[in-house]
Amino acid sequence: MAADEESRRDPVFGRRRGHRLRPKRQALMRELLPRLEIDLGSCTDIIDPEAFFGAGIDQVWLEIGFGTGEHLASQAACRPDVGFIGCEPYLNGVSALLSRVAARNLTNVRIFPDDARRLVARLAEGRISRLTLLFPDPWPKKRHHKRRIVCPAMVARFADIMAAGGEFRFATDHGEFAAWTLRHIYSETRFQWSAESPRDWRQRPEDWPETRYERKAREAGRKPIFLRFVRLARPPADAQPGEKT
Ligand SMILES: C[S@@+](CC[C@H](N)C(=O)[O-])C[C@H]1O[C@@H](n2cnc3c(N)ncnc32)[C@H](O)[C@@H]1O
Repeated sequence: MAADEESRRDPVFGRRRGHRLRPKRQALMRELLPRLEIDLGSCTDIIDPEAFFGAGIDQVWLEIGFGTGEHLASQAACRPDVGFIGCEPYLNGVSALLSRVAARNLTNVRIFPDDARRLVARLAEGRISRLTLLFPDPWPKKRHHKRRIVCPAMVARFADIMAAGGEFRFATDHGEFAAWTLRHIYSETRFQWSAESPRDWRQRPEDWPETRYERKAREAGRKPIFLRFVRLARPPADAQPGEKT
């Protein structure tokens, strides 16, 4: 791999940059991103995510790995009462979301253009009402499983930052990764899988817009799996954490 290509990749989340941005996108990165960007700087305090938004925001939703931002922008347009935080280290994806934000004049979107785990580590507990993780990299090779964003520490942290009654939405087109995710969520007694029938994981709910990756998966003949978990106010009295993987 050439040195430049090497510098564009991160061993965990993949590419930071793809093709060169067109001048319009470059201008959005220069002018709009600084107004929406969450910059953790060198400060190590715990952050209340509501503080990123102005008046009129009743809850905060977080999307990790928004890709080109179609899901996030569409949800933000439907719910002006919700503050949306999107995390995405792939800068071409960030520029795509910026262009959707500008086209729809969205004022309720903030962007963390970096590894979501850095932000998640700093968020105050119990403040995220919905967490969305759509088609995260499945890292199918066994030796790469340690790179998966779904792991015991991360699932516990998701439960920490989520508000009681909040929803964690997850999708994948990789069966083994879906089973892995269910196993890890079962080990975290503060989450409960809300499925009642196979339809619930085979069919995407209507208020859940299709993403680019989902479309590509369907075109390639793969069947996506949709998982929804509720963040319980407290674990059930008889809850037994399952076996850890
Ligand atoms: C397979 S793509 C799916 C994109 C989008 N969610 C979709 O469904 O079209 C996975 C995305 O997660 C992003 N990603 C990977 N690791 C991440 C991390 N640690 N924090 C935030 N985003 C991450 C990648 O840059 C990539 O855009």
